[in-house]
Amino acid sequence: MNEIQLELKNQLEKFRLQKIEPHMEHDDESETFRMDIFSELGSLGFTGMTLPEEFGGMGLSYEDFSIALCEIAKSSVSYAVTISVSCMVQAIINEFGNSTQKNKYLPALTSGSEIGAFCLSESGAGSDAAALVTSAKKCQHNGQAGYMLNGSKIWITSGGIAKTYIVMARTGEAGGKGVSAFIVRDGTPGFSFGKKERKMGWRISPTRELLFHNCFVPEGNLLANEGDGFKIAMAALDKGRFTIGAIAVGCAERALDESVRYALSRHQFKQAIFDFQGLQFMMADMATEIECSRLLVLQAAGDYDRGTPNAKLACMAKLKATDTAMKVTTDAVQILGGVGYTREYPVERFMRDAKVLQIVEGTNQIQRVVIARNLKKEYSTH
Ligand code: CAA
Repeated sequence: MNEIQLELKNQLEKFRLQKIEPHMEHDDESETFRMDIFSELGSLGFTGMTLPEEFGGMGLSYEDFSIALCEIAKSSVSYAVTISVSCMVQAIINEFGNSTQKNKYLPALTSGSEIGAFCLSESGAGSDAAALVTSAKKCQHNGQAGYMLNGSKIWITSGGIAKTYIVMARTGEAGGKGVSAFIVRDGTPGFSFGKKERKMGWRISPTRELLFHNCFVPEGNLLANEGDGFKIAMAALDKGRFTIGAIAVGCAERALDESVRYALSRHQFKQAIFDFQGLQFMMADMATEIECSRLLVLQAAGDYDRGTPNAKLACMAKLKATDTAMKVTTDAVQILGGVGYTREYPVERFMRDAKVLQIVEGTNQIQRVVIARNLKKEYSTH
C-alpha cells in the first residue's frame, strides 16, 4: 500500500471499530440501517471516493476504493455494500450523464447525504437481465415530454432508503438493445416500494421491491440515449463486480482474524487448538486463498485505473473472492466449533453475509459465463 492507501485504511479501521462495530450485533438482529453512520462516512469522504472533486468526490482510484471497502467490510458487509452500490450509481451518472444531471444528482450522493440504488433485476429477469419487461413509453404529460414507467423491480439494494434510483426499462425492441436507463427520484408520483425482503444475511442493508404504476419521468432523466441502458448496466457491473470482490476479501479477513485469535486462546488436550496441525493447515489455506483473492481484486481495480478495463478479470475477481469468503467463513465457524454457531461470536454473521456475495451482481455461475465467453473470443481472434 502507498501512503494514501495506508492512511485511508487506518482512518477507516479507527472509524469502524469506534462507530460501526458496537452496533453490529444489535442492528443485524433488528435489521436496522443507521443513516447517521452512512452520513458520517460521507462527511469523511468515504461515500464518494472515486468521483472527481468537482462533484464532491475524493478523486481516488478504484484500487484505493477496493482497499477502503475491504476495511469497512471487516466490521460490516452491509455498510460496505451500501457504499459500493451508491458509488456504482455515481459512476453511471458521471460516465453517462449530461452536465445538468451530474450537477443535480452527484453532490448529494458523493457527500453521503443521499444514497443511490441500481435497479436492473425483475422477477422474470435475474441472470437474463436483457429479458426485463418494465416499460418506459414515450409520452407527453401535463405538457412535458418524457416517459411513463410501468412494472416492477426486485432485489433492490437500498430500496426505500435511497433517494436516487437508476432504473433500467424497456423503450424499444426485445433484448438488450431495447433497454434505456433512467434516473428516478424517491417521491416521484407512481413510484412506490413493495415487499422488504427478509434475508439470511446483509440484514442491515434493506433489499426491497420497487413498483412503478404510471410513473412519469421527464426526458431530462434519460441517461445517454434510448437503447443504451443495457450497455450502461453491464459496464457498471464490470466495476461493481470487483468491488463486491473487495468486500468479500474484508469479510474473509475478519473471519480468519477471529479464527486465529480463538485458536490461539482455546485450549483442549492441554494445548492451544492452534497447535493441532489439522487446524493449522485450515488456517494456512484460508490465509493463502485470501491473498490470492486480494491480488486478483487489486489487479482488476488497477486495470480500471490504468484505463484498460477488463470484464473477464473483474468477473474472476468477484468469483474467486466471494467463493473464498464463503469457504473461509464456513471454516471459521468450524474452528470456533459450538460458539462459532452462536451469536456470541461474529463469525456466523460473516458466514451469512458471505453467502449472498456469491449471488449478487451476477451469480458466480454468470461470472463463469462471462469468463468463458471472453476466453472463446480471445481464442477465436488468435
Ligand atoms: N460492457 C459494455 N457492453 C457490454 C458488456 C460490458 N461489460 N457486456 C455485454 N455488453 C454488450 C454486448 O457487447 C452486446 O452489445 P451488441 O448487442 O451491440 O453486440 C450487448 O451488451 C448484449 O450482450 P450479450 O449478448 O453478452 O448479452 P446477454 O443477454 O447474453 O447477457 C450476461 C449477458 C452477462 C449474462 C448479462 O445478462 C448479465 O450480466 N447477467 C447477470 C445480471 C446481473 O449481474 N444482475 C445483477 C443485478 S444488480 C445487483 O446485484 C446490484 C446490487 O444491488 C447488489
